[in-house]
Amino acid sequence: MLTINDLYVGYGDTLVVQGVSLDVAESELVSLVGANGVGKTTLLKTISGLVRAKSGEILFMGENITRLAPDEIVARGLIQVAEGRKLFPAMTVLENLELGAYTKEAHKQKKRNFELVFEMLPDLKTKARNMAGTLSGGQQQMLAIGRGLMSAPKLLILDEPSIGLSPLLTQTMFEIIGKIKEQGVTLMLVEQNVHHALGMADRGYVIEQGRIVLSGPAMKLLHDEHLKKAYLGM
Ligand SMILES: Nc1ncnc2c1ncn2[C@@H]1O[C@H](COP(=O)(O)OP(=O)(O)OP(=O)(O)O)[C@@H](O)[C@H]1O
Ligand SMILES: [Mg+2]
Repeated sequence: MLTINDLYVGYGDTLVVQGVSLDVAESELVSLVGANGVGKTTLLKTISGLVRAKSGEILFMGENITRLAPDEIVARGLIQVAEGRKLFPAMTVLENLELGAYTKEAHKQKKRNFELVFEMLPDLKTKARNMAGTLSGGQQQMLAIGRGLMSAPKLLILDEPSIGLSPLLTQTMFEIIGKIKEQGVTLMLVEQNVHHALGMADRGYVIEQGRIVLSGPAMKLLHDEHLKKAYLGM
C-alpha cells in the first residue's frame, strides 16, 4: 500500500531523514519507533506532502505521490493524525469531526463513519456539543483520531498518539488503535512507547538519526538485544 524508497529530507543544509526505505502492506499495523528528534515527524510530514523530499520516492497504492499537494494525498485516503493534535478548540467536538469528512469520498461515507467513531470512542458522543478546547488531553487525542477516521482512511498514520497521556489512558489509546485495526484500516504508528507500539504491531522499524537501523516482525524486534538495551532498559 505504501512504499518508500531511499528517501532523503532535510531543512536547509541539514539532512534529517537519510535514506529511509520502508513499506506498509494492506491491513497491516506497522510501527515506526525511535527517540526524540530522530526525524519521525519529518518523515511523516514528507509522506503527507507538507515537507518536500530532497530525493527518493513515495508510492501509495502503486502511484507516485512524492510531488503531490497535501490535499491530493488526503483525497487518496492517506490520512495523518498529527502530533500535537491540531484541533479547532473553539469549535464543538461534532464540528471538529465534521471537518474530517471534507473530501468527496469521506463525505459519501459520513453517516456510517459517524456511527463508527461514536461506537469506538463513546466519550466523543457524550461530549459532542462541547467545545474541543474544554476536553481533557486524552479526550482531545481521541477526537484527533476520530477526525482522522471521519476522513475515510485507507491508510491512517498516527504520530505519537500516546504522548502526554497517563499510563491508564495510554492503555486505552492502544486498545482503540487495536479496534481500528479490527475494522480493516491499515495503520502506521509512530511512537516512542516502544513496548506498546511493537507489542501490537505486525512489523516494526527502528529509526536512529534519520536512518532505519532495524526492521522485521514486531515480536522479533522486541527480542533484539540492541533494542532491549536502548529502548526497553533491559
Ligand atoms: N521546520 C523545521 N525546520 C528546521 N528544523 C526542523 C524542523 N522541523 C524539525 N526540525 C529538526 O529536525 C530534526 C528531527 O525532528 P522531527 O520532528 O522530525 O523528529 P521526531 O523524531 O519527530 O522527534 P519527536 O519524537 O521529538 O517528535 C530535529 O533536529 C528538529 O529540530
Ligand atoms: Mg515527532
